[in-house]
Amino acid sequence: MSRVLLAPTLAVGAWSPTLTAWSLPIGGSSGAGGFVGEAWGKVGNVQALRERLTVRGNNRLYAVAEIPSKERPKWSDFSYLRLPLLNRRLAFEVDLSAVGCGCNAAVYLVAMPPRPGADASMYCDIQGYDAEPCLEIDLLEANTKAVQAALHTTVGRGGRAGSCNQDGCVANAGNTAASAGLYGLHAPRIDTARPFTVSATFDEGGAFDVTLVQQQASLLFFDPAAVNGSASPDGFPAPVPATDRARTRAALSGGMTLVVSLWSADDLSWLDGGCDAAHPRRAVETAETFEEEGGGEEELEADAPAPPNALQSWTI
Ligand SMILES: *[C@@H]1O[C@H](CO)[C@@H](O)[C@H](O)[C@H]1NC(C)=O
Repeated sequence: MSRVLLAPTLAVGAWSPTLTAWSLPIGGSSGAGGFVGEAWGKVGNVQALRERLTVRGNNRLYAVAEIPSKERPKWSDFSYLRLPLLNRRLAFEVDLSAVGCGCNAAVYLVAMPPRPGADASMYCDIQGYDAEPCLEIDLLEANTKAVQAALHTTVGRGGRAGSCNQDGCVANAGNTAASAGLYGLHAPRIDTARPFTVSATFDEGGAFDVTLVQQQASLLFFDPAAVNGSASPDGFPAPVPATDRARTRAALSGGMTLVVSLWSADDLSWLDGGCDAAHPRRAVETAETFEEEGGGEEELEADAPAPPNALQSWTI
């Protein structure tokens, strides 16, 4: 088992459209890897120190296999890290205590091409705003109020569609009063004022769960035997359909890219159900640890989202 920590830190720097890479060993990799960030992310808003990655402001980072020792790297100098996840567990620790309601700290896998293009990341996800849609596994989309995990294997909209589509096979805690005891600031089960671990276990067939762990407490959160959302015909939790598991297995066998991002929006109610007195919109910070366990082996284009907002940050 290898274990790695990632972490972020705030710096309100000048806008600096430069491709930047941060060295950081990630579980199972040779130790030469790290993260490369989109050029629209502020350089000083990401730090990789002592195996911790810290991110502030709008940023999107990709795990890469190796960081070339060049002063001004180009996208084409990198190849994405392909974690072999079938039959494995991927776990990381996060500190979301400063990721306020209205912000989304996300750790997810997308079926991107194995290498960036000459001068662009070639980012894709299921929504397909930047490129052809590709399969997306959201392990964590979260702030201090709510947490969501989702599987998206195909385009298409609508709940009860019978597949994990753009709306997704979804698990959420904290977005309604009914689940507020499970997750939130000072919640009895997972207290977002303190760090917790996100653990995803993948089986051979493409099914995976996501479990949140904090000291003695644990929350089996995304359960492949009972997920909500687009694949449940009657609106109640249902198993992830066999077709979606098979598509997930195929994508994981081909290798998926690990993405870490932080962003905010005026309306993130799909995630957090809206902010409240206990979870106001506020400044944020986060921390995270990656670890991978398992059997044996082990410039850019700036179609930029909203400009960085120094009031949000997180540490991975
Ligand atoms: C799924 O939906 C049901 C019914 O709305 C809800 O009670 C349950 O908490 C949801 N489960 C998850 C994991 O989101």
